[in-house]
Amino acid sequence: MSRIAYVNGRYLPLSGAKVAIEDRGFQFADGVYEVCEVRGGRLVDERRHVARLDRSLNEIRIARPMSAAALSIVLRETVRRNRVRDGIVYLQITRGVARRDFSFPQANTPPSVVVTARSNDLARLERMAEEGIAVITLPDIRWQRVDIKSVALLPNVLAKQTARDRGAREAWLVDAQGRVTEGASSNAWIVSRDGTLITHPLGRDILPGVTRSVVIDVIKAQGLVFEERGFSVEEAYAAREAFVTSASQIVLPVVSIDGRPVGNGAPGLIATALRRDYHAHAELT
Ligand code: PDD
Repeated sequence: MSRIAYVNGRYLPLSGAKVAIEDRGFQFADGVYEVCEVRGGRLVDERRHVARLDRSLNEIRIARPMSAAALSIVLRETVRRNRVRDGIVYLQITRGVARRDFSFPQANTPPSVVVTARSNDLARLERMAEEGIAVITLPDIRWQRVDIKSVALLPNVLAKQTARDRGAREAWLVDAQGRVTEGASSNAWIVSRDGTLITHPLGRDILPGVTRSVVIDVIKAQGLVFEERGFSVEEAYAAREAFVTSASQIVLPVVSIDGRPVGNGAPGLIATALRRDYHAHAELT
């Protein structure tokens, strides 16, 4: 089956779908995006993703090009046309097409909107969760507003490739104070020896992950001890458990950091329970 993309008001075969070469997303990475999980044909936490999209758009001063209701229809229609039951839907909005010039184009320049959807191999993701993943640590060399979900992802791309080259699936990024901010495409968590769940606080130095926020709801509902603070690489090495969260992977246990086993080197009980209970707390619409 050929895949379908939504591009500025039209549904087109992905192979022929195009944006102009002077699109500001292409030339300046001047745009933002969202990735939303699709489960059983329904969107997971759409409301929180759209709220974050609005915040990102607002921060970079792009007006939302369509109502939340219209956007919701486009997301669902793209999922439907691609026959995605379990997978992701991707949305990108850029400042539109204009003659290359750093400052903003004329105010009447319409933003470009692209939506794609694709299926995930759930069995493969489950296997990965059962085995756990390896992460490496790398310096966080990103800009100072990574709370904006910008398409400017070059540092993340390079970190991810370095991780892959070293046989790991994710890179944990470390700030100048030696604390882990987040993963290249996920939020980072540890469970300390005394059972406290720890993740970096919200701010300009991490993406406010939707999965992170739902996981915090699950943690509170289960009465677990939770602390929002930066943790050092040494603390992570000594942790009982570690895991990452993101819309495409939900909760994935981390079983090694820089080649050192986490805990007993197998997925932790807390991470596994959070993964199991996640969708009971998420909003499926
Ligand atoms: N990545 N931090 C970064 C840098 C991310 O790119 C992501 C998501 C997250 C987790 O956010 P959420 O739980 O809302 O997915 C944290 C997506 C999935 C991606 O770029 O594919």
